[in-house]
Amino acid sequence: MDSQGLHPDAPRHKSPIKWMALVALSLVSLTTYAMWDQEKISIKASVTIPPLSASAQRGRAIFATACQECHGVDGAGGSRKGQPLIHPMYRDNQFPDFVFKKSIRDGKREKNWRFGPMPAIDTLTEQQIDEVTEFVRAVQNASGID
Ligand code: HEC
Repeated sequence: MDSQGLHPDAPRHKSPIKWMALVALSLVSLTTYAMWDQEKISIKASVTIPPLSASAQRGRAIFATACQECHGVDGAGGSRKGQPLIHPMYRDNQFPDFVFKKSIRDGKREKNWRFGPMPAIDTLTEQQIDEVTEFVRAVQNASGID
């Protein structure tokens, strides 16, 4: 008899419980991490589109071709390449039009988010930059983000 009450010659079975617990624990941690990471990467706003002026409608089309890839449909975010623009941080009281337009012309290094840098969008005319800005402002106002 040894300390576990077994005969010294009795066959020993290693319990799989320890391994099962370890595997289960790793699965839970990996899943939690994956979900948390996803959350961090894709941020989505809920967006209301108001009736748009003709120039804001042109702005919406420009947004779809030049910005949507990163900032999401109508600036709602939800992509892995950029944040929502329908966000209190980019309201005109925080982030005036001239800064907004400068970001489009010059791009922006990675600073406030973890999506990498924004390239300068040099395919747009000044008028198109005005229109896309007008569109984003109209959606920000209608979406009640502040
Ligand atoms: C290739 C991806 C990409 C495209 C295309 C893009 N952006 Fe961005 N944009 C980003 C990222 C990433 C940031 C965040 C940089 C940071 O970390 O602050 C950003 C930041 C901004 C900001 C905030 C700048 C600041 O100073 O904090 C504005 C405004 C903006 N983008 C508007 C636009 C508009 C309007 C368009 C289309 C004309 C556009 N972006 C196209 C990726 C993109």
